[in-house]
Amino acid sequence: MSKVELNNVSLEFRDAGKSFVALEKVNLKIEEGEFVCIIGPSGCGKSTLISLLAGLNFPTEGEVRIDGAAVRGTGTDRGMVFQHYSLFPWLTAKKNVYFGIKQANLFQNKKQIEERALEYLKRVNLEEYVDKYPYQLSGGMQQRVAIARTLAMDTEILLLDEPFGAIDPKNRLALQALTVKLCKNGDNRKAVVFVTHDIDEAIILADRIVFMEPKRIKEEISIGFPVDLTREEIMVSPKYMEIRNRLMSLFLQDVGNRIGEEVVL
Ligand SMILES: Nc1ncnc2c1ncn2[C@@H]1O[C@H](COP(=O)(O)OP(=O)(O)OP(=O)(O)O)[C@@H](O)[C@H]1O
Ligand SMILES: [Mg+2]
Repeated sequence: MSKVELNNVSLEFRDAGKSFVALEKVNLKIEEGEFVCIIGPSGCGKSTLISLLAGLNFPTEGEVRIDGAAVRGTGTDRGMVFQHYSLFPWLTAKKNVYFGIKQANLFQNKKQIEERALEYLKRVNLEEYVDKYPYQLSGGMQQRVAIARTLAMDTEILLLDEPFGAIDPKNRLALQALTVKLCKNGDNRKAVVFVTHDIDEAIILADRIVFMEPKRIKEEISIGFPVDLTREEIMVSPKYMEIRNRLMSLFLQDVGNRIGEEVVL
C-alpha cells in the first residue's frame, strides 16, 4: 500500500450547465517519505490534482486514497500551501502560524505553541514581522508566513502548490534548504507533493518528477540526488543536464524552439 494513491482518477467540473474535464484517468502512487515534484504547462491540472489530495475536490471517477483509506475531506494529516496566499486577514503573522499549530494538535500548552510559531517565523526570515497583519506584508512575505504555518504543523504529508513562486531568489534558496531539512530528514521523511514551474528547483528537490500535460501525466522521471551534494555538484553533473534537457524538450514539444521565433501557445 502506498502512502498516497490516485487510481484512475477523472475530474469533471460542472458549472452552470457547462462541463470541463480537468483530469482524465490519472494514476499516481507516492510512497511514504517520497518527495514528488509536479511540473507541466499552465492549466494542465496540477492544482486540481493537489486539491483532490487535500480533500477540497472529489473525483467524478476513480478514487484517491491516503494510507489505504478513501479521502473524504480535509484532514490534519495533510499540510497545504496554496498557490495563492491564504492567510487569515484578521490575524497577525504569529497568530496565523499559531492557528495552524493548534489545528495540528501538536501541543496543548499555549506557550509551547507560541514558541513554535515564533521559531518557524524566524526560520522563514520573518522574525521582525511577527506582529504584522497580512495587509502589512508583501506578497512574498505572506507566502512565507503560509509556508511557516504549514511546516510548523509537522504533518506526514505536505501538499505544496507553487509555494515559492512569489519569493525572491535568496529567500527561495533558503526555503528550498529548509524544506529539504524538514522533509528529507533521516527516518522522519515526509511524503511531499510539490508543484513548481521551476525546472531546476524540481530537479534539485525531487525524488521523482511527474510531468503533466493537459488532463494527464505524460512522463515520470526518477531523480533523488543525495542531500549532502552541493547545488554546484548537482548542476554540473551529466545526470542533471540529461534530466533538464528532457524536461525542456517536454515543454518545447510542438513549440518553435528558435530564440526570436514567435511561439504559438
Ligand atoms: N472550479 C473550476 N471550474 C471549472 N474549471 C476549472 C475549475 N478549476 C480549474 N478549472 C480548469 O481546470 C484546468 C486545470 O486547472 P488547474 O488550476 O489545475 O491548472 P494548473 O496546472 O494548476 O495551472 P497553473 O500552472 O496556471 O497554476 C484549467 O483549464 C482550469 O480552467
Ligand atoms: Mg495551479
